[in-house]
Amino acid sequence: MSSVIHCGKYDVHVGPDMFRELEKFLARRQVFGNVVLLVDRNTRQHALPLIRERVPSLQDAPFIDVEAGERSKSIDTCTHIWNRLTEIRADRQSLLLNLGGGMICDVGGFAASVFLRGIDFIHVPTTLLSMVDSSVGGKTGINFGGFKNQIGTFTRPAAVFISPAWLRTLPDRELHSGFAEMLKHALISSREKWDALSQTSALKDMDWIPAIQDSVLMKNRIVHADFRDRHVRRTLNFGHTVGHALESYSLLHDADPLRHGEAVALGMICELYLSWKLCGLPEEILTELAAVIRRLVPAPVAPVDPEAILGIMKSDKKNAGDRIRPVLLQDIGRPVINHPVPGELVLEALGFMTRIAGEAALNS
Ligand code: GLY
Repeated sequence: MSSVIHCGKYDVHVGPDMFRELEKFLARRQVFGNVVLLVDRNTRQHALPLIRERVPSLQDAPFIDVEAGERSKSIDTCTHIWNRLTEIRADRQSLLLNLGGGMICDVGGFAASVFLRGIDFIHVPTTLLSMVDSSVGGKTGINFGGFKNQIGTFTRPAAVFISPAWLRTLPDRELHSGFAEMLKHALISSREKWDALSQTSALKDMDWIPAIQDSVLMKNRIVHADFRDRHVRRTLNFGHTVGHALESYSLLHDADPLRHGEAVALGMICELYLSWKLCGLPEEILTELAAVIRRLVPAPVAPVDPEAILGIMKSDKKNAGDRIRPVLLQDIGRPVINHPVPGELVLEALGFMTRIAGEAALNS
């Protein structure tokens, strides 16, 4: 059985019989013949045949494919999608079905949200990260001018269909990456949510359906209060100010770069340190949280140039003025937005994170 989470104007279906729910949705909307699938090279090979087999109305639906990877979150990819939609003669009744991870959901959502002044789109996320983060909340976007998500819209999907079946073949690091965002949702929500999730022993044995439902509910509660990201939604950036900088640095310097959620996990450890220094987060909670994050998301930590990380953070568009303003935590479930942080403390926080990662590696 699938469960349905009502996210205001759209529903998120979570469960093993996602294909049946999708078929029912398409029948209700009577968009047969007008559905266009968006896939990348990975989901074209692995997910497209399955969805076409299990959802009969999609058997002959045209598809658009793009290269896999973050580089495809670009205006060039959008041009390709708009050209193909035009060739296919997509019209206002058409529906774009985004089948893939965060990149596909973000770029597909954006391309659809402005094509013919906006056509409907739905997400069928195939990674844990996109199930609990990018497919929920109505942010669409592409990278531009060297900045992540520089261009985009706030447009809700018409529906989201999440099946944990896609996770069976997901590599461990992708699973850790998504789990980092789930830990983040719990940390900014409540001690009860954190305790429930942090007791997880191994992700392989996880009961995914209730865990994903819970995470989607936590995110949706925040998005519902502030859809346009003006105040409380910013708490979802916990771990991201440092995390984005580590991710960008790693993309430039590492042969096998950090996954998004891995960088967020390292960023959360840094921002917890800053929370201890600046917001009264008790030291024993800092120690507890950092250890749990390292255990459940053992992201590789390559040497970094701390000054370069600081430079990337200073150019983050989410800072107001020239101060770095990450989300900090007074305690579990008590996030603080817009707290200015001096650069020297960020350098200390990076040192703390590197030490914790080294200790965790020695103890494992
Ligand atoms: N990924 C953060 C947000 O949806 O606001």
